Amino acid sequence: MHSDIITNWAAVLGVVFLIWLWARIHRKRQRLPPGPGIGIPILGHMHLLGPLPHRSIHKLSQKIGPIVFLRLGCRPTVIVSSPSLSREFLHDHDEAFAFRPTMEFGKLVFYDQGSACMQPDDPRWKAIRRMFAQEVLSPKSVLKYKNIRDDEVRILMQEIRCKAATGESIEIRTFANRWILNVMTRFLFSRRASGDELSEFPKVFKVLSELFAQPLIGDFVPYLRWLDPGGLRKRVKLQAKLMDAILENILAKRLQPHDSNEAPPADVLTVFLNFFGVSNNSSELGAVKACILEILTGSTDTTTAAVEWAMAELLCAPKLRLQTLQDELSAVVSAGQQVEESHFNSLPYLQAVIKETLRLHPSVPLLLPHLARDPIEIAGFLLPEHTRLFVNVWAIGRDENVWEAAHEFRPERFLPGGSASDVTLVGGQSYQLMPFGYGRRGCPGSHLAVTMVSLLVANLVHNFTWSSSLSNIPDDEVMGMSNMLAKPFTASPIIR
Ligand code: HEM
Repeated sequence: MHSDIITNWAAVLGVVFLIWLWARIHRKRQRLPPGPGIGIPILGHMHLLGPLPHRSIHKLSQKIGPIVFLRLGCRPTVIVSSPSLSREFLHDHDEAFAFRPTMEFGKLVFYDQGSACMQPDDPRWKAIRRMFAQEVLSPKSVLKYKNIRDDEVRILMQEIRCKAATGESIEIRTFANRWILNVMTRFLFSRRASGDELSEFPKVFKVLSELFAQPLIGDFVPYLRWLDPGGLRKRVKLQAKLMDAILENILAKRLQPHDSNEAPPADVLTVFLNFFGVSNNSSELGAVKACILEILTGSTDTTTAAVEWAMAELLCAPKLRLQTLQDELSAVVSAGQQVEESHFNSLPYLQAVIKETLRLHPSVPLLLPHLARDPIEIAGFLLPEHTRLFVNVWAIGRDENVWEAAHEFRPERFLPGGSASDVTLVGGQSYQLMPFGYGRRGCPGSHLAVTMVSLLVANLVHNFTWSSSLSNIPDDEVMGMSNMLAKPFTASPIIR
């Protein structure tokens, strides 16, 4: 009996040793970057990610180095966390990593990956992306819809004035999110998200955002897709169906026969319908819906998170920062007037505040996954085909070797004469500050994003002083579609 137990244990240890030896030899032959051992059966290193993967991976890279190799389920994955490696992967080898992996969420929600973000790097994707860049999100098209943003600022400021009159505190996130959704749905299809017609929309959208953050097992271990632990896939499917019904309704109204002399609404839906040549029952209806959803999902939570972090940093930091911004705004915009986009060039401190917010709190801390379709030799390593790439911009933003006083909110660093005065946020080559990614897969909405975040923060700060019970930002985050404060940040507005 005793010798049986010893024999069994010896056999188990023998097998474990052989697996370890095989993994070591295999790793050497493949010249993979360093990683935290071979991982556990089936899941690989997935258990190491935790609820805030950017933080867990940051801890790993502090031990292992700025390039870490993991197996997530059966997916080879590399994570880089330094400006020089970001440059090597996203600039020097941009083309090789311009693919996106096929994801279950994309199939279920984005009409079988019909959107730009989900599409692989093929001619169709390039054409959709060109249309986004030139006809929808270029600075010129963004400017065309300026009136919508100003109008929504006016409505929002009025709502907050009512709250101020009663002395109530407000959740910044709730108001920012409502503003952004209204701006975006008017921009996309000329309707307010807060209107009766779209009453279900914000609710469904919120649930979808929450589900997005949870990993679907089929993405990492495809042969276990059928398991659907916790019924997540089922829930995603249900919300996708509800969202589809809302979008169907919007499209049906737009495609109703109408007077041919009547000009089509000047919104993005018209651009999409023309681009895809869509009429009723067209096979391209799915692509139109996917693009609408993509712009909505890409823009709302990301921008909301940035506004909330900016306000939290301004209100919790020494009051000096809020005061400096208010003084700058008062010098340019008269009291009681709305801040407009035409003022931005005269507001360098505002621009510095937005940069500093996105440095410390990038809304998408690991960027979206990039994929190398073929094996690739890079940074002295040989990566297998279908390696996924994440760039930990959150970790780069907090790296003391890259930034002076990296953990402090100091917008002044970006002002002329500051230690980071030459660092750009959009359209430059600043690999130490990349909240919008870089290269072919970089965010096409970065200009609109910076415009919306700056406009909202500027108006919130110019029209109100704020009091908050917090003196420090809690170090607690939660990952949905974006990286948010775990608890909504609340503050009381006082009319200035
Ligand atoms: C503060 C706000 C925003 C942040 C921080 C942000 C960040 C990002 C990031 C990090 C990526 C992935 C880049 C990569 O993987 O290399 C991305 C992709 C994308 N973003 Fe944004 N974004 C914001 C706002 C917007 C807005 C306003 C829009 C549209 C109106 C938008 C549309 C998109 C689209 C369509 C993609 C996918 C591009 C592709 O895969 O080809 N984003 N964004």
